[in-house]
Amino acid sequence: MGQDDRFSKIVSHAKEYGFVFQSSEIYDGLSAVYDYGQAGVELKNNIKQFWWDAMVKMNENVVGLDSAIFMHPKVWKASGHVDAFNDPLIDNKDSQKRYRADVLIEEHMEKIYQKIQKEIKKAKKRFGDDFDEAQFVSTHPRVVKYQERIDTIRKRMVDALESENLQAVKQLIEDEEIVDPVSGTRNWTDVRQFNLMFDTKLGSLASDDNKIYLRPETAQGIFVNYLNVQKTGRQKLPFGIAQIGKAFRNEIVARQFIFRMREFEQMEMQFFVQPGTEKEWFKYWREKRMNWHKSLGFNMDLFRWHEHDKLAHYANAAYDIEFDFPFGFKELEGIHSRTNFDLTQHQSLSGKKIQYYDPEKEESYVPYVVETSIGLDRTFLMVMAAAYAEEKLEKETRVVMKIPAALAPYKVAILPLVKKDGLPDIAREIMDELKYDFNCYYEEKDSIGKRYRRQDAIGTPYCITVDHQTLEDKTVTLRERDSMKQERVAISELAGIIGEKVSMKHLLKQI
Ligand code: GAP
Repeated sequence: MGQDDRFSKIVSHAKEYGFVFQSSEIYDGLSAVYDYGQAGVELKNNIKQFWWDAMVKMNENVVGLDSAIFMHPKVWKASGHVDAFNDPLIDNKDSQKRYRADVLIEEHMEKIYQKIQKEIKKAKKRFGDDFDEAQFVSTHPRVVKYQERIDTIRKRMVDALESENLQAVKQLIEDEEIVDPVSGTRNWTDVRQFNLMFDTKLGSLASDDNKIYLRPETAQGIFVNYLNVQKTGRQKLPFGIAQIGKAFRNEIVARQFIFRMREFEQMEMQFFVQPGTEKEWFKYWREKRMNWHKSLGFNMDLFRWHEHDKLAHYANAAYDIEFDFPFGFKELEGIHSRTNFDLTQHQSLSGKKIQYYDPEKEESYVPYVVETSIGLDRTFLMVMAAAYAEEKLEKETRVVMKIPAALAPYKVAILPLVKKDGLPDIAREIMDELKYDFNCYYEEKDSIGKRYRRQDAIGTPYCITVDHQTLEDKTVTLRERDSMKQERVAISELAGIIGEKVSMKHLLKQI
């Protein structure tokens, strides 16, 4: 199965089984805005819960917050978003399509990188166990050339973007002969800057004085509440504030399903530290966050680190955790060392002292900040992409979502073998008992085989089948999703067995 094919299958699967729907679909949809269906909202809530528990419950010096989406307009002036939250855009005159110029260049570099990967794969096959990848990459003439080309392109792109030389960005696109993926032509407009914030008006007066923004990140809600939380929570440095909430960006390129949306959710944590210790905490949170991903049990070859070449206006170091989505490695999470930029800016624009009195050092200072920021929707897509599997069985192919049990929308499906002989009554009794602990799914329509397939497709880790033997000995069949193994289990033991397998505890312990 090709990667494009795999991606379109995942998108259709997400719709067919109630994970994700296009927003306002009956009106032909709204671009880059999506709704989560009955299975999707459960998966999304479980991801949120897993993140929240890993950040807040597991760390006594991290607390939560839920700040408003609307904020004083000066917040966005202070944070730099009014002046600098721009993307360079470019249009192709033939296809009339609009692109982010930096993304076009990055995708071009990715193509060259894929050529390197192809060479490595070929050589690995040829040399087998004797293959020394590091030596091969540093000496093979074609690979060395590809790498040099990537390095040169990256340097030119970073220099051009950092100096805001948009003409140089366009020149790079022309020199590299980058073509529009739709029209296949190089008929480009000039590169222009485009601010990504949505604005609206507060109250009934439509004057510019009332202009406010839909927040483009949740982090600023944390910064402006730093003093509130620190004082009322009697927090000592280092401590963190975590928040999950909606963010809005008028993205230029909004393709790839829920990867890049105009309305999305972020899970962010700002960790406030003593200046001079930020490097050590930066390292600490990088490790913690990668462990969080690792604990989900997916193939770790799908994850990699990417160090930023071009830093955001507030950061002095930044790494991304990238995931190998069906359309290539892309950013999933950012871990940023944000210095004291935001708090200092808010201090000067608000005129309020935002400082921490350090009783040990006997001095006041503006704390430094290490941020972890992950998109909830992107994490959702990561889980869907990593979990989607097609398996050839003896007589058929099954689609199974191997979602980690702790995140699965439903933990258990309860299925009476037939709709008679009192089996549905027992199944209902089991459901009434288990529903206090787990999100359960009850189904009695269709053959048992079809019902198993449907649960596989939703990712339900366990199916309980109530059959005639149940009437005699109060046992049921417990079927496990991935192995499809079935065992006979006493009804009284179900809660314990399932509870042990679907608990988030096992994941949290690995972080
Ligand atoms: N507070 C820092 C910040 O917002 P960012 O790298 O712009 O940093 C953080 O965003 C994360 O939010 C990204 O790694 C990504 O997972 C998610 N994200 C950003 N823009 C998004 C979009 N348009 N659609 C979906 N997720 C997005």
